[in-house]
Amino acid sequence: MNIAFVGCGFVAAYYGDSLANYPELRPLAAFDIDPSRLSAFSKQYNIPIASSFQAILDNPDIDLIVNLTPPASHVEISRAALLAGKHVYSEKPLSLDRAGAEELIALAAKQDRLLAVAPCNFLGWSMQTLARLVRDDVVGTPRLVYAEIDDGPIHQMAYTTWSSTAGVSWPAEMEFRVGCVWEHAAYEVGFMTSLFGPAATVTSFSHTLVTDKMEGLAPQDLGPDFCVGLIHFHSGVVARLTIGTIARRNRSMTITGDKGILHVPEIWDFEAPVQFAVTRGSTAKPTSSLLLVDTPPNTPPESEAKSSGTGPSPERGIQVDTQPPPMDTPRLYATSPSYRMDMSLGLAEIAAALRDKRRPRMAADHAFHIYEILQALNDSVAAPGHREITSKFVPIDPMPALQTTASNCTISW
Ligand SMILES: NC(=O)c1ccc[n+]([C@@H]2O[C@H](COP(=O)([O-])OP(=O)(O)OC[C@H]3O[C@@H](n4cnc5c(N)ncnc54)[C@H](O)[C@@H]3O)[C@@H](O)[C@H]2O)c1
Repeated sequence: MNIAFVGCGFVAAYYGDSLANYPELRPLAAFDIDPSRLSAFSKQYNIPIASSFQAILDNPDIDLIVNLTPPASHVEISRAALLAGKHVYSEKPLSLDRAGAEELIALAAKQDRLLAVAPCNFLGWSMQTLARLVRDDVVGTPRLVYAEIDDGPIHQMAYTTWSSTAGVSWPAEMEFRVGCVWEHAAYEVGFMTSLFGPAATVTSFSHTLVTDKMEGLAPQDLGPDFCVGLIHFHSGVVARLTIGTIARRNRSMTITGDKGILHVPEIWDFEAPVQFAVTRGSTAKPTSSLLLVDTPPNTPPESEAKSSGTGPSPERGIQVDTQPPPMDTPRLYATSPSYRMDMSLGLAEIAAALRDKRRPRMAADHAFHIYEILQALNDSVAAPGHREITSKFVPIDPMPALQTTASNCTISW
């Protein structure tokens, strides 16, 4: 699939860093209104420079446009790309308002083009294993999800020194203006909707707790830095979602059912372990092959193993580690000290869907549903409360199963 990048800022490097994982993705052009960023991105990843956005739209060889512009430009760029007959992969959010989101969905359908919206982390190895374990019934009926995406007190960190592989500074002002809901909620929401199906309601509260984050930004210019939402899914599952840039970093997910509990400590790490513990009081024995532990000979059964020290016995569980899909070369992730994400996986999923003439796992109806939930969460800045979610989407197929290994572990969460 021939692709073109529009917007060569901070996040573009995350795509550039992982592009080589997918030789089927051929980057034919890149464009940015900032010539120095365009030139640095082009040089770093060996992608030809387009003379203008129009030149990309006019190039009949380009199949898909990757829209990596700031959120306020998403609708304008995606609209032009769809009108030019291109498929679109947009960074999140789809739009910052309902009219824009609805327009793009209708336009993609009219033009018979694919419209996908990042993030793609719900297709990542670890999250797919988590979903597989839920489908294998290891927690029984899932009842409650604690989804956390606290990113630490960013305003107190040395964010002015953060820079991408292509030398672009982290866009602090944009991030502070847009706020934590539009910037981060989709990483948790996209996974939950892909597994539990459509949401029925969102009850939420959002607030800007620190109003003097950055010189030159007045309190009214800042998006929320804290949001807590309760999402009630039609399937009966309830999720408590916390998003913020104030509290200590915690980007985890915990799914509790009648039989067991599943936990992923870091949803931005495609290779994060998935841990399982039996729910207190449950006598259920999970039967998933993913939980079969190869116990070395002469290891005493866990019930006989003595805890050391004088404290309470540690809670024991099973850890499932997932191997990434095999490749001839080492897998490349976005270059970041704090996580391993393969941002280009979403592009590869679109390429595979087009090649195989099948529905992509990242589809416009799911993107719109995520948009609607994010909008409900963000609307609680102005008015905390309860909102109905009306959109639905076609269920999403799991990714092909990956190789996993299970081992005994101590549960520390
Ligand atoms: N910063 C992050 O850590 C991060 C992580 C994941 C996703 N995202 C998302 O990625 C998107 C881009 O964020 P970013 O951090 O790269 O921002 P950025 O400001 O660093 O980069 C955006 C780039 O788009 C360019 N641009 C703006 N309007 C344009 C137009 N009309 N045509 C062509 N280029 C245009 C800008 O010149 C800039 O270089 C946002 O939607 C953001 O939510 C950001």
